[in-house]
Parts: sequence; C-alpha cells; structure tokens
Amino acid sequence: MFAAQEIVQDDKSEFYRELATQLGALLDGESDPTANAANTAALIFQMVPDLNWAGFYFLRPEGELVVGPFQGKPACVRIAIGSGVCGTAMEKGESIIVEDVHAFPGHIACDPASRSELVVPLIHRDRVFGVLDLDSPSPGRFDVLDRAGFEQLAAIYVAACKWEEHAG
Ligand code: SME
Repeated sequence: MFAAQEIVQDDKSEFYRELATQLGALLDGESDPTANAANTAALIFQMVPDLNWAGFYFLRPEGELVVGPFQGKPACVRIAIGSGVCGTAMEKGESIIVEDVHAFPGHIACDPASRSELVVPLIHRDRVFGVLDLDSPSPGRFDVLDRAGFEQLAAIYVAACKWEEHAG
C-alpha cells in the first residue's frame, strides 16, 4: 500500500524531484490512464501547497477537451481547443503559466477562488492528447521551477500509461 511521505524541502527543484520519485512509486505496475490520472491528481493535491484544483482534461474523439480525474471543486466539463488556458496550452502544445487569471483573455473560471494557473500539456509520441491543470488561490503562485516540476510529473504519468488500449 502506497503512503505519501511528507516532503520537508524549501528548495523547489528538490521538492519536485522527491515528489516525482513518489509519483513513480505510486504508479509503478499500473498502466490504466484513468486510474493513474486519479492517483496523480490525488498525490499532487495532497502534497503541493497552495492549490485549490489539480486535475486532467483529455482530448476526446469529438475534438474537445473533457474533464478527467481531479481534486477540487466541480469543474467545467468541456473546453474547446484554443479556449481558456487549458485549450490554449492544448493548441500550442506548450505549458502556460498565468500569474493573474483575471488578466488572461478568455480564462474560464471554474472556481472563482482561483487567482493563478499552470497548465502542462500531456504529450505522447509527439501528440498532445490532454493537459494537466493546476489552480491556486494565490496570485503569481507558479514560476518556472513549478513549471519544470509539473512537466516532470506529467512525463512520469504519460510514461506509466498504456495509451493504445485507451484510445477512442
Ligand atoms: N481555468 C481553466 C478551466 C479549467 S478550471 O480551472 C478547472 C481554463 O481557463 O482553461
């Protein structure tokens, strides 16, 4: 049985390295994308301070992002590609840090408490098939070290899963 270990670490890069090790252990031996997304969201929400939402949106066959496993308040279900922070990160295939969501044109407010946001694309064999979305109630919560840390976590999640069986 996996039990998350508290990380006492002021150095952000080291914090994410330790969290990445724990995520690898949590997902070890399981390749189901939904199950792994659920546990990844739960671990992130438990361990990373100052978040009010952490979870996944997946590209579905109808060409929209649809919410997947997450922790936090109920969220918008469907997001068009190119829409909001998630749809923009999906379209560009790049992570986006939003220091102030009120200043991001087209930001989709799911939880009005959210003040800043980080969205990381999920990439498998050069295809973007979804995003990992993090929201914080604090403005300017995410910096480049958080971005690098969450990109590392997203890569561990993607590598742990078998995608062919999940398609469609
Ligand atoms: N704020 C996101 C929508 C998803 S919620 O934050 C969970 C966006 O603008 O795409």
